[in-house]
Amino acid sequence: MAILEVLHYPDPRLRNRARPVEHVDERVRQLVDDMLETMYAAPGIGLAAVQVNVPLRVITIDCSESRNEPVCLINPTIEAEEGELEAEEGCLSVPGVYESVTRSRWIRVRALDRDGEPIELEAEDLLAVCVQHEMDHLEGILFVDYLSRLKQARIRRRTKKLQRQT
Ligand code: NI
Repeated sequence: MAILEVLHYPDPRLRNRARPVEHVDERVRQLVDDMLETMYAAPGIGLAAVQVNVPLRVITIDCSESRNEPVCLINPTIEAEEGELEAEEGCLSVPGVYESVTRSRWIRVRALDRDGEPIELEAEDLLAVCVQHEMDHLEGILFVDYLSRLKQARIRRRTKKLQRQT
């Protein structure tokens, strides 16, 4: 396994739209394992392949407190959604920024798992928010896109300053 480099906002590669995975083969499983290692090391609760500059429809998530409930979704699609929830979000690609975003409170998702088997996941609250956030990455959308232009400009200035410091 390997820790992958996470792209930081406003890197234009975060705007790439991800392609569907055609075959869940050894290469894809390796990507999933590396993404999980990268996500746990960060530490973060979710990661999309686009964030490690691989434009494939693959996301990894672990919202558990014990950090031992990895979820891998390949080619995820939202089949149903209900309710609304406003929650504070952060993103490994936008370090140090936490802002409120409104999402569906409950979703049902179809995807393939790490073995390429079809799965259906019902998620609510934090897990639902996390899945929607990561699925946005597959379309090149970041959570900061939902904020006001003023806030976005402030975040761009702050992240540039951070990047100069490191
Ligand atoms: Ni993110």
